[in-house]
Amino acid sequence: MSKQTEKIKALVEKRELARLGGGQKTIDKQHERGKYTARERIEMLVDKGSFEEYDMFKLHRCHNFGMEKKQYLGDGVVAGSATIDGRLVYLYAQDFTVNGGSLSETMAQKICKVMDMAMTNGAPVICMNDSGGARIQEGISALAGYGEIFERNILASGVIPQISSILGPCAGGAVYSPALTDFIIMKEQTSYMFLTGPKVVKTVTGEDIDAEHLGGASVHASKSGVTSFTAKTEEEAMELIKQLLSYIPSNNREEAPRVECTDPIDRKEDLLNEIIPDDPNQAYDMYKVIQAVTDNGEFFEVQPKFAKNIITGFARFNGQSVGIVANQPSAYAGVLDTNASRKGARFVRFCDAFNIPIVSLVDVPGFLPGTGQEYNAVILHGAQLLYAYGEATVPKITITLRKSYGGSHIVMGCKQLRSDLNFAWPSAEIAVMGASGAVAVLCGREAKEVKEQGGDVKQFLAEKEEEYSEKFANPYQAAQFGYIDDVIEPRNTRFRICRGLAQLAHKKQDLPAKKHGCMPM
Ligand code: HXC
Repeated sequence: MSKQTEKIKALVEKRELARLGGGQKTIDKQHERGKYTARERIEMLVDKGSFEEYDMFKLHRCHNFGMEKKQYLGDGVVAGSATIDGRLVYLYAQDFTVNGGSLSETMAQKICKVMDMAMTNGAPVICMNDSGGARIQEGISALAGYGEIFERNILASGVIPQISSILGPCAGGAVYSPALTDFIIMKEQTSYMFLTGPKVVKTVTGEDIDAEHLGGASVHASKSGVTSFTAKTEEEAMELIKQLLSYIPSNNREEAPRVECTDPIDRKEDLLNEIIPDDPNQAYDMYKVIQAVTDNGEFFEVQPKFAKNIITGFARFNGQSVGIVANQPSAYAGVLDTNASRKGARFVRFCDAFNIPIVSLVDVPGFLPGTGQEYNAVILHGAQLLYAYGEATVPKITITLRKSYGGSHIVMGCKQLRSDLNFAWPSAEIAVMGASGAVAVLCGREAKEVKEQGGDVKQFLAEKEEEYSEKFANPYQAAQFGYIDDVIEPRNTRFRICRGLAQLAHKKQDLPAKKHGCMPM
């Protein structure tokens, strides 16, 4: 065997050893926990044979607490580039088989390297989290490593899409990297995210709670809104990432990939002409409207379990990717509250940062009143949504289906927030407030007089409400002022959106020069 051949053989063996991570025993343990290994996860996600690994031979440099004996090629993270559906991505997967995937200084360097490459080459970065947090034996070096990663997350925000999948523990300050990314996917049952674990919670607050109820996938999907998606299996998590990528561009200088559209753009949906109930207080399902207007009825929902009174997600019109924001009359009457506002604001900002037009479907009775909301800063959260819409320079099309009252009318993409095309259905009610609330304010004194004179107050109020509704519960006052560009037949909605998007394909709009705005938070 020549020296060269021997060296190549040694390389192959070294690679094989590196691919074993923490060794077969720890791999078996990982499988017993119901989890895949870092490399298996990457294989599952990327195009076959496309993964190119970097820093496979990197080693940590720590000598504290016997760490020289816990040395594994590549340390606790597998990092590199690959393609997904032929598109370049950079990715890293924490390897729990190596010292619990705990983050060392060298691991941080590996992660930062792929993040830098992603930025330079304008490609999304995807991380797979499964880690015991900062490597305790390294002390400040591990913390500094996190700092380096967080700074890159911040600088990459709005430049390249960043996606985090949480497939195991993610605790302490480590949660801030995923929190700084655009989308989080949590695997049910085996993953959790929290700043302080159950033991610390018990010591500090006396609260008895397990990891799943403190920071499991279902908690963050429905209560905190931290996660964008949940997945029953790791396979499903990877499928969600692929689907998500198909709707978004690789960076902020590109458009989202366009797909061929077989669904006629002028498809009329008679169902929409019937969907608004005669009773203004009766609900209907906004998902049916979304399904009726999008290409092939497809909709990829973001945060489906959180703040269900607002719906956010991606769809396509004539093959073009679009962000949909819609009030949901069948969840709390579609009212806006703190959670709905921040959910909507986050989504609108992502779409705007990545050149994805926004279509808003409006049926909103207003903001939810009460101390619960006011004490939780509904003023600021509502302003976030307002700010996001007003700041967004991507094409914006707003369709008002029914109610659009007061502040919520303005917030949900009205004309004055530089919305491009505002259409209303004939059932639209665009007014300062609903009839009963308005009459209570305007006719209180008269109602008192009617009562004093022994008149029928109920009938008086009903007549006044009728008068108010006739004047304001329609789209024509707004259309008269040009605040609605056209009143359209509901069944033509898909066509009007598709045609509108085509008109707006080359839209250019700027913001005043500034370092950055001061978004209310
Ligand atoms: C070094 C760690 C580690 C850590 C786990 N390991 N976490 N080594 N630093 N942070 C090692 C274990 O010693 C063990 O090594 C191996 O990984 C597997 O861990 P186990 O405990 O056997 O696994 P499991 O029972 O599944 O428990 C997983 C765990 C637990 C829940 C994650 O390991 C744990 O509680 N770890 C500590 C979590 C933590 O408090 N981290 C610091 C958070 S604060 P051996 O060699 O025995 O197999 C933080 C600050 C970040 O991260 C700040 C950023 C700004």
